[in-house]
Amino acid sequence: MSKQELERVAQAMVAKGKGILAADESMGTIKRRFDSIKIESNESSRRAYREMLFTTKGIEEAISGVILFDETLRTAASDGTPFPQVLSRKGIIPGIKVDKGPVDLPEFPGEVVTEGLDGLRGRVKEYKELGAKFAKWRAVITISNGIPSYTCLETNAHALARYAALCQEGGLVPIVEPEVLLDGSHTVERCQEVTERALRVTFAALFLQRVYLEGMILKPSMVVSGKDCPQQAGVQEVAERTIRCLKRTVPAAVPGIAFLSGGQSAERATEHLNAMNAMGPHPWEVSFSYARALQDPALKAWQGDPVNIAAAQKIFYHRAKCNGAARSGKYSKHMEAEAA
Ligand code: 13P
Repeated sequence: MSKQELERVAQAMVAKGKGILAADESMGTIKRRFDSIKIESNESSRRAYREMLFTTKGIEEAISGVILFDETLRTAASDGTPFPQVLSRKGIIPGIKVDKGPVDLPEFPGEVVTEGLDGLRGRVKEYKELGAKFAKWRAVITISNGIPSYTCLETNAHALARYAALCQEGGLVPIVEPEVLLDGSHTVERCQEVTERALRVTFAALFLQRVYLEGMILKPSMVVSGKDCPQQAGVQEVAERTIRCLKRTVPAAVPGIAFLSGGQSAERATEHLNAMNAMGPHPWEVSFSYARALQDPALKAWQGDPVNIAAAQKIFYHRAKCNGAARSGKYSKHMEAEAA
């Protein structure tokens, strides 16, 4: 794929009023999600769940792309249409998670590095043939006493940059995701300091690997207080600190920033996105690539029972539309009340 084509796909992923649905839960993660509603995770329940999400009417109004897991990219809906085609027929771009998850970083207790570079060139080629147009790789950074270490930031950034370069070579737009976890009792100031360092190191590595900035999307975490911090930053403070941090670190050549939700409640994730866009215009599109904040309310309504599909889809559509409105700072609490 040419650079122009990478750029075109990247821009479509962060089109105005839209964002990305992350539905790329690995086997372990989807099992945890299903455990929460007490249903078994097997091929058929995973397919039924993803089919419920992807066939929601009108979802393309607020969803530009969907990140899939390897199994889902190869799965067909109940009418026999492969999921990537189900999505592309609606004008939604299919993407694929290509990392193989985090493993312990030797000699750095409490820190991890994401694996999956070996053989990636071949996998990118295959995923492209299966219909994917973009990819995702998630690096995980933990805040605690004395961590993250520079080694952790640098090792993860190197892997992200190698992944991004391989994707662009093979014609997939890379989503570069350095996630600073919200677990812990750290303050919002500490989160800002760590996020800023992580992004600086990541963009330095992207530069060294000659990654084409116009043909990638950044998926960062927001600057929030640690989950167990007694003093929780409010919506406006989170928005201001996050934008300040990104302006210091993310080149304007990057077409878009699509946040992860990271365990924030669904409504809070929407409020944060809305507050950031209300502060715009910004040098890049400020969008979403949520998994839990888009899916959790629908998952709870679904309960694994076909009779609940319509109710779950209604809730999923509503969350997507709220986040679509937050893309231009037009979300308000009234939208929740109207839907209730
Ligand atoms: P959450 O929005 O649930 O954090 O997930 C986004 C994601 O894709 C993590 O890699």
